[in-house]
Amino acid sequence: MIQIRDYQSGDFNQIENIWEQTGMGGAARGDNAQTIENSLNHNGRFLVLTNGNEIIGTSWMTNDSRRIYLHHFGISPNFQGKGYSKILLEASLAHVKQAGLQIKLEVHRDNSKAIALYEKYGFRFLGDYLVYIIR
Ligand SMILES: CC(C)(COP(=O)(O)OP(=O)(O)OC[C@H]1O[C@@H](n2cnc3c(N)ncnc32)[C@H](O)[C@@H]1OP(=O)(O)O)[C@@H](O)C(=O)NCCC(=O)NCCS
Repeated sequence: MIQIRDYQSGDFNQIENIWEQTGMGGAARGDNAQTIENSLNHNGRFLVLTNGNEIIGTSWMTNDSRRIYLHHFGISPNFQGKGYSKILLEASLAHVKQAGLQIKLEVHRDNSKAIALYEKYGFRFLGDYLVYIIR
């Protein structure tokens, strides 16, 4: 049975597998169980989609008290194409609505599946900004 629940400590190994399989992993990003816990201690929310046996989707929302940022939104490859991302995104947006904040995300310009999904749920392209980072 498909369910959505909050992240629990102990989930990280499964989550890391999904991130690797969906191209959202990699040590350079600096994400680990501690980073997740830190974000949860600062009003973040991490939702996982499960099928009863295993985690099949992740949605990590950080909150800087100005906006919520959506990170690592993805569905395990074996479970893609079944509409599960919509269930997870709807739950994520319900959280955003409850928080009363704006939500922002970054998506690669070639990721047409994700772009179609996000636009379906009301996200609008903000403009031709370049994205910078210090690792
Ligand atoms: C993007 C992603 C979450 C979508 O999940 P999915 O299981 O593949 O898609 P779903 O079956 O839930 O479909 C949801 C919507 O996505 C879009 N979509 C899905 N497959 C698509 C395709 N082949 N072409 C275009 N749009 C597509 C559609 O808008 C679809 O809604 P619809 O069925 O009502 O038209 C998933 O492909 C994924 O995890 N990709 C890898 C990780 C990633 O890139 N995440 C986004 C990071 S910003």
